[in-house]
Amino acid sequence: MKKKVTVAIDGPSSSGKSTIAKLVAKHFNFTYIDSGSIYRAITYVALKNNLIKTGDIDVVSLIDLLNNCSISFSFNSNNQNVIKLDDISVEDEIRTFEISNNVSLIAEKNEIRKYVLKIQKDISNNKSVVMDGRDIGSVVFPNADFKFFLDASIDVRALRRWNELKLTEKDLKFEEVKKDLLKRDKKDINRKFSPLRRSKDSTLINSDRLDISEVVKHIIGIIKKEI
Ligand code: CDP
Repeated sequence: MKKKVTVAIDGPSSSGKSTIAKLVAKHFNFTYIDSGSIYRAITYVALKNNLIKTGDIDVVSLIDLLNNCSISFSFNSNNQNVIKLDDISVEDEIRTFEISNNVSLIAEKNEIRKYVLKIQKDISNNKSVVMDGRDIGSVVFPNADFKFFLDASIDVRALRRWNELKLTEKDLKFEEVKKDLLKRDKKDINRKFSPLRRSKDSTLINSDRLDISEVVKHIIGIIKKEI
């Protein structure tokens, strides 16, 4: 087997990326890295410090704060990343609807993307990784060994996300979740820096009619053939 393998999985919100990326990583004993969790942790820092006001961000103060705190990862027994802020896990705090609602504002800033890029490269140094996100195959690892782009229709994606979120946020309506996904898709696709794009050399998988195990099997099959 090749010494170090990089697998990029991109796609819009709730297209199944993280569930599938975790299972593929587990199969090959590669490290799974959820790049969205870095943008979410930064959004958490920004909200906590009141740096997002009326839809705008004080980027200078935010970068300053980020330079004085540490965003790091530890890995659990399944080799999945647990994101930490100043050494304390913020895995639960970053999954709220409020964070989802604000994260695209953070992700569109080039200064923030440069900060995240460094973390992405550092964490992948010298190991085989499966990383999911929006720009992994296009910007972060344009030379990745394998690139996949996962997609599904907006209603399928919104239903998946609503089912997840309503376990902890009981009053949340399906329509609110769908509206948030549409807003995020629009921002992710249209932003100036690293927009969500399918790179031409990626394998497109639409999971509207495929369950998780079918998508995972398909991806594992493609990787196995080559390594
Ligand atoms: O889980 P979900 O697909 O909803 O989103 P996520 O992967 O947690 O990412 C949250 C947000 O971070 C996305 O809506 C993007 O705006 C941004 N993001 C990005 O711009 N680039 C990445 N590589 C990963 C996430």
